[in-house]
Amino acid sequence: MALDDAAPVLPNDLSAFWMPFTDNRGFKAGPRLLASAKDMHYTTVDGRKLLDGTAGLWCVNAGHCREPIVEAIRREAGVLDYAPSFQLSHPRAFDFAQRLTAILPAGFDHVFFGNSGSEAVDSALKIALAYQRAIGQGARTRLIGREKGYHGVGFGGISVGGLPNNRRAFALLPGVDHIRHTLDPEQTFVRGQPERGAELAEDLERLVALHGADTIAAVIVEPLAGSAGVLVPPKGYLERLRAICDAHGILLIFDEVITGFGRLGAATAAERFGVTPDLITLAKGLTNASVPMGAVGVTAEIYRAVVDQAPAGIELFHGYTYSAHPLAVAAGAAALSLYAEEGLFQRVAALEARWADAVHSLDGARHVKDVRNLGLVAGIELEPRGGAPGKRGAEVFQRLFEAGALIRVTGDTIALSPPLIITEAQIDELVGRIGEALARVA
Ligand SMILES: Cc1ncc(COP(=O)(O)O)c(C=O)c1O
Repeated sequence: MALDDAAPVLPNDLSAFWMPFTDNRGFKAGPRLLASAKDMHYTTVDGRKLLDGTAGLWCVNAGHCREPIVEAIRREAGVLDYAPSFQLSHPRAFDFAQRLTAILPAGFDHVFFGNSGSEAVDSALKIALAYQRAIGQGARTRLIGREKGYHGVGFGGISVGGLPNNRRAFALLPGVDHIRHTLDPEQTFVRGQPERGAELAEDLERLVALHGADTIAAVIVEPLAGSAGVLVPPKGYLERLRAICDAHGILLIFDEVITGFGRLGAATAAERFGVTPDLITLAKGLTNASVPMGAVGVTAEIYRAVVDQAPAGIELFHGYTYSAHPLAVAAGAAALSLYAEEGLFQRVAALEARWADAVHSLDGARHVKDVRNLGLVAGIELEPRGGAPGKRGAEVFQRLFEAGALIRVTGDTIALSPPLIITEAQIDELVGRIGEALARVA
């Protein structure tokens, strides 16, 4: 081999790559480039180690470059590089789907594959519409999201999403409405789920009264909202939402792209909260982020209506060239095995109190307005600098990048979601470094 594959190749020109969700001009003036990763750390192109406080982008749940996953991908790449999933498939896709249903709540007997969280969301919304139509409720075409929700970047996802910047420049789906978000400025520095706020779910009744239940197909929420800055559901809120959906024949979709695969100490947030939706979207941790993949978990009832009771022929005119891609399936199967062998979901449950103690040691720290946590997730909301919202958050991020830790910021909120293999010492290191950065930043 002429080139050393492991050596970082530094680009001469950064202009061609239009980077997503990035200040392209700022980045290209001061690039941050990663060369490799192992377990809890990234290594930058200049050879510095970064403690990964975000599992990449909420996705590398078992830690980086884990050997069983690497090996599974390597092996499959040499055996079956690609197989279509339209009217053909490959055996491992069925095995993987079966194994996936085993970790979903009871009744989730089927999965539909795509390549990302955004595709999972759009697939789930389409399956919800197809279901309502299949059961003779074709007038139910309205989709309900929630303020501050993030459901990816497809037209469906941004329409039900509730982050204004992601919607502003684009045309949106018609017939979409939003219930209120659950962030309560009166309840700050709460450990775990806030006591008050279950009644916010009643906002769905407002939309039912306004539009008529017989026009509403589905409601989609993140059980714990990640991208808006870690919004933990109040106690009883999801239960109430479930009950209102049931009362009105509305499907409930949990977008578990972040919360799936152990993030909250169980396979799904549905399991953690004991609230079972009708559809579950998954991505990220599905393959430990090693190969892009998304999926929708579907109940037997929905599958029966849309598939089994349809006339002979193609039942759902939807799918992707790379649905159940062999490399993603191989990676996903290896990731599921690793999660189980290392007991990583249970590990989060065991670490949760320790994590909460650590992140709440920042309560009252300079600039800190609120600290929220659940499972192995935390949001540390900073007071925005007067007249410059987001600036302080961006500076903390840059300072930590230079000091050796990777965090994520949305506006002025630090979101932490480390790989589930993080040790107690690494938790202290991460939080300690954040404390130091907060002490230094203006
Ligand atoms: C809850 C949720 N849904 C959907 C998505 C979109 O996933 P992707 O970026 O893989 O399309 C994300 C990504 O962060 C997410 O957090």
